[in-house]
Amino acid sequence: MTEEVQRRLDELRQLIDRYNYEYHALDAPTATDAEYDALFNELRCLESEHPELITPESPTQRVGSETQSTFRQVQHARPMLSLSNVYNEEELAEWAARALRMSSAENLQYVTEPKVDGLAVAITYRNGTFELAATRGNGFIGDDISANIRAVPSIPLNLRRSDRFDIPGRIEVRGEIYMRRSDFEALNNRMAESGGKLFMNPRNAAAGAIRQKNTRITASRPLRLSAYQIGYIEDGHQPRSHFESLEMLREFGFATSQESVLHDSVDDVWARGRFWLDRRSALDFEIDGMVIKVNDLDQQEEIGFVAREPRWATAYKFPAAQQTSKLLDILINVGRTGTMNPLAVLEPVNIGGVTVSRATLHNEDEIARKDLRIGDTVIVQRAGDVIPQIVKVMEDRRTGNEQPWEMPTHCPSCGQPVHREPGEAMRYCTNAACPAQLLERLHHFIGRSAMDIDGLGARLADRFVEMGWVHDAADLYTLDQEAVAALEGLGEKSAANLCESIDGSRQQPLWRLIHGLGIRHIGELTATLLADRFESLDALGKATHEEINDVPGIGGIVAASVVDFFSEEPNRRLVEKFEGAGLRTREHADGEVRPRPLLGKTLVLTGRLDRHTRLEAEEALRKLGASVSGSVSKKTTAVVAGEAAGSKAEKARTLNIPILSEDDLATLLTGEIPAEIAES
Ligand code: IVH
Repeated sequence: MTEEVQRRLDELRQLIDRYNYEYHALDAPTATDAEYDALFNELRCLESEHPELITPESPTQRVGSETQSTFRQVQHARPMLSLSNVYNEEELAEWAARALRMSSAENLQYVTEPKVDGLAVAITYRNGTFELAATRGNGFIGDDISANIRAVPSIPLNLRRSDRFDIPGRIEVRGEIYMRRSDFEALNNRMAESGGKLFMNPRNAAAGAIRQKNTRITASRPLRLSAYQIGYIEDGHQPRSHFESLEMLREFGFATSQESVLHDSVDDVWARGRFWLDRRSALDFEIDGMVIKVNDLDQQEEIGFVAREPRWATAYKFPAAQQTSKLLDILINVGRTGTMNPLAVLEPVNIGGVTVSRATLHNEDEIARKDLRIGDTVIVQRAGDVIPQIVKVMEDRRTGNEQPWEMPTHCPSCGQPVHREPGEAMRYCTNAACPAQLLERLHHFIGRSAMDIDGLGARLADRFVEMGWVHDAADLYTLDQEAVAALEGLGEKSAANLCESIDGSRQQPLWRLIHGLGIRHIGELTATLLADRFESLDALGKATHEEINDVPGIGGIVAASVVDFFSEEPNRRLVEKFEGAGLRTREHADGEVRPRPLLGKTLVLTGRLDRHTRLEAEEALRKLGASVSGSVSKKTTAVVAGEAAGSKAEKARTLNIPILSEDDLATLLTGEIPAEIAES
């Protein structure tokens, strides 16, 4: 009996999965809605009679009922990189020439695909079963959005079986979550009917849905996935080319990047770019460009990446959307490092679905170069997520009443004279006690990308400063709860909640604290790299320019900026105050710093390993202090070559870089250093 039920359950689930796939991924349904609904109902009934036979991957289990209050953070096994941009034929040709130079090939093949404007996600499957989904986040750490991704019908909970490829032990699928234009409009119509708030554009609607705390709402939004990359595969067939990866993804049940095409020449790539530019508005989804990738995966590895961008891929970005508007005023915004940032106040205009009323002006030289005057009619452009910019003045629209503008000679916040370093375009307020800077630093410190203190917004922080309670970020940790409770509009309960969340933030990971310091040129990514490498604020403060510069992914400008920061007495005092206030100034709460015998060694793993999976080995090496890189260069200390190692081992040989065996790897993992690389 149970066997029979189990058989029917399997059958129903398989059929529903198939119809789902045909409908959502292939856009070619073979079942009617009524047939589908009947099967779904039958499945639900059977499952309610046999709840013990429900599996988490059953199509009935996509939508959970719980809501989550925050998203758990997850570290990506491989960073999620972003793409460089090219804007015209010459830049495309330069990109291709550089890629060719970096590779050992005579010719490169390229794959192009439209660049869907949505949000990147990474989805992991273990033995064919959905395990985890995460947002891109800062490229290294994202939010766990598994519950929401499960609710997207076109994403398989079980990989489809394929005749061509075995289901891998583990696979990470990357792609773009987006909403079709038609679905977006229907959604907005529904929202309008129910008196709800309308969404700006498909991208915002998709972003909102994917970050929903309530999965039921996510499930009611018409999200789709366009899969465009395999992050990694373990225990399974390794594709040789990007094109083959896409085929695998399709076989496993994903809707892949639409109309990807293989090209043999850059001319063909450029022609394809023009094609997409023309077709752009005819598509039912928004694209902001075309992605170009070198097809051969070994060549991709050879070509490698710089900082956060692969050199083997780029995006041809379409010309930005433009509108005319009127320049009403120019304001100065004092940044947290004292920069005087001019900001254009514009008559609000709608550009590509977004209302724009502010534009960046960078610095006074740019204002002079563009000859901007208050009252001018200007052309404003917006490209993707970038802050809108003023392209130029329409001089023929001038009436003669426009007013020239001059950079103030004194800080609008503290009234102190501002300085301009010779050779620099920016003016700075160098008053360390300038209230605007303090406020900006504080806002940055409590913000989402740094200490992420729940319930403490910029306005409230400003009030603490006004009251004279807070002179720097460390003062937040000694706020008097009773005094806070007595503030107008607060009260016992909010004060208690606030103090609790400030208190809780002491345990934020070190990279957040480093980012929160607001050191010039340090973003979330660099903060993570610095935290990983130095493990404590104290060690970071003592690090030399050279030691910082040696961290993979960090360059001279960042290194100089860190050294500068810690050379200033007030900054060192601030760090001491953080330590005194019990913040997590080192990565290990117990105060014990792990030994890192492999510090300074850069290793590359290649070929099949028998005793560990690639990821385990990489993680273990990193824990011991090594950097693990995907490509061989002069900076590589050694290459660990397993079974069937290919081009990377060869490249190591030509560069005279030691090649280690899996036995040597085992030695390395005990923390001992094999003789071959002891000196390097
Ligand atoms: S490849 C290293 N392919 O564009 C490769 N990205 O600007 C990086 N995107 O974060 C991604 N369509 O969100 C790739 N066919 C496509 C894409 C695509 C859209 C997005 C993705 C990525 C961003 C990079």
